[in-house]
Amino acid sequence: MTMMLKNFTKNGYHIEKSVTPLSVHEELFFIFYDLSLSAINRKKIKLDYIPKNINECYFPRDIKELDRVLFSLLEYDRDLLGEIYDTVAYCSTFFKLVSNSKIEEISRELLSLQRSSALYSTTHRIRMDWPEDEKRRAGWHQEIFHTYPDFKFIQTWSPVIRNSTVQNGTIKVCPGSHKHGIAKQNWEDEKDGYATRILIDEKIVDKYEQIDLSMKIGDVLFFDPLLFHRSGHNSSSEIRFSQVGMWNDCSIKGFRAPKPNFISRTYSPRDNYEKHMFSDKNKSQAK
Ligand SMILES: [Fe+2]
Repeated sequence: MTMMLKNFTKNGYHIEKSVTPLSVHEELFFIFYDLSLSAINRKKIKLDYIPKNINECYFPRDIKELDRVLFSLLEYDRDLLGEIYDTVAYCSTFFKLVSNSKIEEISRELLSLQRSSALYSTTHRIRMDWPEDEKRRAGWHQEIFHTYPDFKFIQTWSPVIRNSTVQNGTIKVCPGSHKHGIAKQNWEDEKDGYATRILIDEKIVDKYEQIDLSMKIGDVLFFDPLLFHRSGHNSSSEIRFSQVGMWNDCSIKGFRAPKPNFISRTYSPRDNYEKHMFSDKNKSQAK
């Protein structure tokens, strides 16, 4: 057994340093900035400042410029941030971040898979966590109820664009808590601005040491599906960007690929057909 596997088995997590290249974080910074400027233009949002021209931006010097446009979008309509979140997740640059051979190699080793085994990605995303956003801050949980039943997986988490610090609310874990098994927890449906929360009984969490895992961009955290973890409190004035997602073992009995379900944010292909076939313009052309 390797040292990494030994520590992972003991603590329930492993941090691999300097995995993702700085150039990918730089590209992601520009992707977020570009999508933010597009949203501002599309919605004709009036700002009391002129956003910096993207061609004059430099990474990491101008990360604050990105914070500024994202704060403006948040103030205008929070759903626009949800749309940016969904867009980034299918941008080619994001695939570069997660499709990293070192991440594959470590995930396979931690899942005891062979070099040629398939890894299935579930809901890889880049989260954006705002300062003082207590309602969206994840409480103590285990990932098992946030994914498909009977899946065997390794979770990854990593800071993106900027380092994660105690001040900006980096991830917290309870070392060794994965050995507890499935802890007693309470399912709270989405309400009052809170997302659905499945929170571990506090008395159980209190039995464990709780540590903050401050990480540099490039570092990747791998953890067990049963490890207790949560977001820290973002008491800074900056947005914390973090990659979250799971790598699944496709060979186990319980694995069945979920059916993707994409829903248009505008109108349906049928509506589009009707619009083109039966609009007044088309009717007059047909005459
Ligand atoms: Fe989680």
